[in-house]
Amino acid sequence: MKNTDFLVIGSGIAGLSFALKAAKHGKVLIITKSNEDESNTKYAQGGVAVVVDKDDSFEKHIHDTLIAGDGLCDPAIVEIVVKEGPQRIQEIIDYGIKFDKDPAGVYDLAKEGGHSEHRVLHYKDVTGYEIESVLLKQIHENPNIEILTHYFCLELITQHHLGLFVDKSTKVINCFGVYAFNTELNDVEKILAKVTVLASGGAGHVYSSTTNPVIATGDGMAMVYRAKGKLRNMEFIQFHPTALYNPGEYPSFLISEAVRGFGGVLRRKNGDEFMYEYDERGSLAPRDIVARAIDSEMKKSGEDFVYLDIRNRSKTDILTHFPNIYAKCLSIGIDMTKDLIPVTPAAHYMCGGILVDEFGRSSIHNLYACGECSSTGLHGANRLASNSLLEAPVFAHRIYLDAIEKFKDSVIPENIPEWDDHGVIQSDEDILVTHNLRETQKLMSDYVGIVRSDFRLDRAMRRLFLLHEETEEFYKANKVSVKLCELRNVIQVAFTVIKSAMARKESRGLHYTTDYPGHAEELIDTIF
Ligand code: SIN
Repeated sequence: MKNTDFLVIGSGIAGLSFALKAAKHGKVLIITKSNEDESNTKYAQGGVAVVVDKDDSFEKHIHDTLIAGDGLCDPAIVEIVVKEGPQRIQEIIDYGIKFDKDPAGVYDLAKEGGHSEHRVLHYKDVTGYEIESVLLKQIHENPNIEILTHYFCLELITQHHLGLFVDKSTKVINCFGVYAFNTELNDVEKILAKVTVLASGGAGHVYSSTTNPVIATGDGMAMVYRAKGKLRNMEFIQFHPTALYNPGEYPSFLISEAVRGFGGVLRRKNGDEFMYEYDERGSLAPRDIVARAIDSEMKKSGEDFVYLDIRNRSKTDILTHFPNIYAKCLSIGIDMTKDLIPVTPAAHYMCGGILVDEFGRSSIHNLYACGECSSTGLHGANRLASNSLLEAPVFAHRIYLDAIEKFKDSVIPENIPEWDDHGVIQSDEDILVTHNLRETQKLMSDYVGIVRSDFRLDRAMRRLFLLHEETEEFYKANKVSVKLCELRNVIQVAFTVIKSAMARKESRGLHYTTDYPGHAEELIDTIF
């Protein structure tokens, strides 16, 4: 058993930013399911959208975010994130993060889809890697922070585990920590905490093609769902328009939107530029529009990809700005200074998630959510590129402000039981796990992807139901393993995505259905 003041689940920018602040007030324990630096943050290429340029303004950034969100952003939250952003980003710069500057010492700001200005701070094309490395260095130097790797979080501990029902009048669910699977010892541990922060990232692996690392299986969202907390707008899955088309590579390698911001254009096989046929902003239209256009082009041509062309920029420029992308493409025989890059959309970012308020408080008492696993109201129906690396430190700070007050009064009951696995056996055949994961991902990609319909959603739900039943039966009979628990999480997140998509009788942002191609009159959030 372990005991801490602040428990953080996940080691990306959201969890690490919170931990560094909270450690001034109490003991912080970070648990993470893989290596300490493995997170979506590490793979972020583009950067952090923030107002730092004199020609830019908060109003413009707010406006761009609201337009991308297609009516469903919470304007108050957008204002908070955009206006508090510069201060929070200065804090991470003070930790030692280097963003690129021009020879005159002025930030070299990139432009991405949906932005009216150049406002994306970046470090070459490996911004996330830089952020992750610097934050982890700070974490290691802090004596109040412990980080445990290869701990897979199984369940939130709530009063349910004490055999207590939720009080019918208050309906308050309390969180006292988590049960976590120590994968090295093959044992489940009870970790008690006065305050728990879920910073467990996204759910790209609900789909068979994704830019996310393999750990992105929606664990935090699924745990909150099982604990009867609230999720919001789960149908809004952002497909990044330009993942590198490289059959057999899993997950997919991202070709940053910054390449289009640098002059890259999307072309058909015959060389025609096609995006202006879909949107006056061309290749730099918001992601939902570009991904749908590419999907439509691929359906018309019967090809699995379209092309991205950045040959209009010099080799020196390309190598300076995109050394990582250049090296990757070259490793598979594509010289992007001379060749077209084959690209295809891939699941990239979950715009919905655990419902939180303006201080990151979830619907479960003493449980916060931060970063991609949360739904703050910033992204609405479609996230503006590079807004997420801004949202995470802003909300980490707000959670910190609330949590340092709350943890003082938080009482953990004494009689919380150990994890109960009586009657289960060690499975000697895991083919069901592998098979059901593949099948879930395939049905989600085929039926709940960029273009949806009632018919496809129905079909997906019926198939998912069978996979759910089989998996739950297997789970009840066998000892836990990471792969099995990830499968359950993927299936449960897939269920919330389909159910939310079925409830939304309109097309908005990332949710496009051929049965309801326009906006509904009423603006609604889908809440689980
Ligand atoms: C990219 O570099 O295109 C990804 C940035 C983001 O998803 O915000």
